[in-house]
Amino acid sequence: KSAPEGVFKRFPLTMVHGIPLMEPIAENWQQIEEFQARTDDLLIATYPKAGTTWMQEIVDLINNEGDIEMARRAPTHVRIPFLEICSPKPLPSGVDILEKTPSPRTIKTHLPFQLVPKSFWKLNCKTIYVARNAKDCVVSFYHFDKMNVTQPEPGSWHEYLQKFMEEKLPLGSWYDHVRGYWDEKDKHRILYMFYEDIKEDPAREIRKVMHFLEKDQSEKVLQKIVHHTLFQVMKENPMANYSSFPTSILDHSISPFMRKGEVGNWKHHFTVAQNEVFDAHYQHRMMGTTLAFRTQI
Ligand code: A3P
Repeated sequence: KSAPEGVFKRFPLTMVHGIPLMEPIAENWQQIEEFQARTDDLLIATYPKAGTTWMQEIVDLINNEGDIEMARRAPTHVRIPFLEICSPKPLPSGVDILEKTPSPRTIKTHLPFQLVPKSFWKLNCKTIYVARNAKDCVVSFYHFDKMNVTQPEPGSWHEYLQKFMEEKLPLGSWYDHVRGYWDEKDKHRILYMFYEDIKEDPAREIRKVMHFLEKDQSEKVLQKIVHHTLFQVMKENPMANYSSFPTSILDHSISPFMRKGEVGNWKHHFTVAQNEVFDAHYQHRMMGTTLAFRTQI
């Protein structure tokens, strides 16, 4: 089904259990909360812009033994459905799609730990969480909110950075998101990964994912996956770069989805003053956690 003309707009945010979510998601909350996981589901969870699409490509390739053609069978969002996504009717919701998806399913979510449907934890499903340092995350999110015309108006960079620190962006607090999964990782089957680590040594990190999925594959397959998931290679791949997504939602002429793919790109956006304020707030907000990020490699 295609979207009727004009249904996509910059949706307002609505609070769900204290977390600001896009209005259509909030309106469909009961269906999401009651979602029935299956024991062999794999969840890929992230705060937006932490490298979700990258991990989706890595996992899909591992699941297909490094078969590049198989990974090109459909765009990312079709291969790995987005749990909470919800468009105005008659378009199906993420849950509608997942209910019809045969097992084993790989599922994407941006929900913070406490909002993930409880059935995932009851069934002890595996989860891969990808975290990315706050500074690169907020820069990436800013550009994304400009090009994704269903997100609230981002305003100026300075205003956006304020909203991030005030934890008012879609999905709420980055600080709580990364800490939430960190605190739960040893109580559930959660593999906690870092964007910066994957960038630094993709082979080492993809090996970790293989191991977690109990799919230790040959060095040859590993090297194929490393190559196919390089930023430049994915940027050129129409099945991995979101170019096939409706342009009424993602406007790549404003900013490409595959934008820079770097660690440390924040340095081109933060002023010295913004950086000082951010660092002080960050220290306060992340006090008491063992979770540590690198903002350059
Ligand atoms: P930038 O905006 O900093 O370039 P998500 O998939 O969670 O929305 O994250 C998108 C971010 O991950 C974007 O960051 C995008 O460029 C980056 N990204 C996607 N694929 C990547 C890859 N193969 N290597 C490095 N970064 C990648």
